[in-house]
Amino acid sequence: MKILAFETTCDETSAAVLEGGGLRSNAVFSQIKLHRKYSGVVPELASRAHLEKIPFVLGRALRRAGIKVPLKPDVFDAVAFSRGPGLPGALMVGRVAAEAAAELSGAPLIGVNHLEGHLLACEFENGKASRPLKFPLLTLIVSGGHTELWRARGYGDYRVLGRTRDDAAGEAFDKVAKLLGLPYPGGPEVEKEAARAKGKGPEFPRPFMPGTRDFSFSGLKTAVSYYLAAKLGQDFYRRGLRLPPADIAGVCAAFQDAVVETLVKKTADAARSLGLKRIAVGGGVSANGALRAAFGRLEGLEVRFSEKAYCSDNAAMVALCALRRLEAGKFRNSLRVEPDLSAPGW
Ligand SMILES: Nc1ncnc2c1ncn2[C@@H]1O[C@H](COP(=O)(O)OP(=O)(O)OP(=O)(O)O)[C@@H](O)[C@H]1O
Ligand SMILES: [Mg+2]
Repeated sequence: MKILAFETTCDETSAAVLEGGGLRSNAVFSQIKLHRKYSGVVPELASRAHLEKIPFVLGRALRRAGIKVPLKPDVFDAVAFSRGPGLPGALMVGRVAAEAAAELSGAPLIGVNHLEGHLLACEFENGKASRPLKFPLLTLIVSGGHTELWRARGYGDYRVLGRTRDDAAGEAFDKVAKLLGLPYPGGPEVEKEAARAKGKGPEFPRPFMPGTRDFSFSGLKTAVSYYLAAKLGQDFYRRGLRLPPADIAGVCAAFQDAVVETLVKKTADAARSLGLKRIAVGGGVSANGALRAAFGRLEGLEVRFSEKAYCSDNAAMVALCALRRLEAGKFRNSLRVEPDLSAPGW
């Protein structure tokens, strides 16, 4: 089976070709440079950049996969795109591109859930979907826009157990980085700084929120902001005041510890209370080395991550979601693109 897929939910424009579970191409254009000066993604700019880059990204994906243009009829068994959740304007671009490619090649169009993509990305190894997930399992999606725990009984059979009530984990990384004067996206910068920390830094609260599987990271972000205000003065951010480098590293390490401990404890508690032995972690924040190490220390639980190249947004994972649906014979020829916040099952 050959699938062409598009990903345009946020700030990566991507197209991929997957054939028989092997990736023939996965072209990704990241808009990071465009959004950096705003310290976050500007939706209108993201939509325009997707529009501008998608022909180039599609061309690259087809060329690398050795697919000739004009497209021959039946060249693809399906064309897939992320139908959400994501930025509405950005989603439209992926949908229109996918619709056109489906029309030209006579293939069915499959809209997939972007977060399911972050989960299934765990199946790729050296460009092949050769590590199929074993069910049942507990899923933790930790990305720029989401922090969610799902119980997964099989492909497409997902139940949301908890989600963030305010900031997603990635968003908290990005905002704390901004407070510290570090560039966007903040996650990798905070991780780099944290690795340089020496000695004992500040202590930030762990938002465990007993009694619920939901998450909340905005209070932790506020705790960092109060800490900085106490050190530098109330209007430190407006005045452009920043901590000395050694103290920045300490704050990053303390913040990262609090996020990691919260994610790992809540996920492990949920797995144990549900009798689940397997955990799969996906999304941009799952690239974090401290998070991987902490999950790796859990006893009696098998924890799976995707290869780092597939943690952030890419069309390879979108193609794989469509493949699993084709194999199961469960898909709608769908043009639905509204941000979809409902349960992500098929
Ligand atoms: N090493 C890292 N440590 C912590 N966070 C990281 C790391 N690398 C990336 N991130 C964070 O991951 C986020 C981006 O992830 P991803 O691309 O999956 O999110 P998104 O697609 O914007 O959001 P969503 O998938 O929820 O729609 C950013 O917030 C970024 O700071
Ligand atoms: Mg994403």
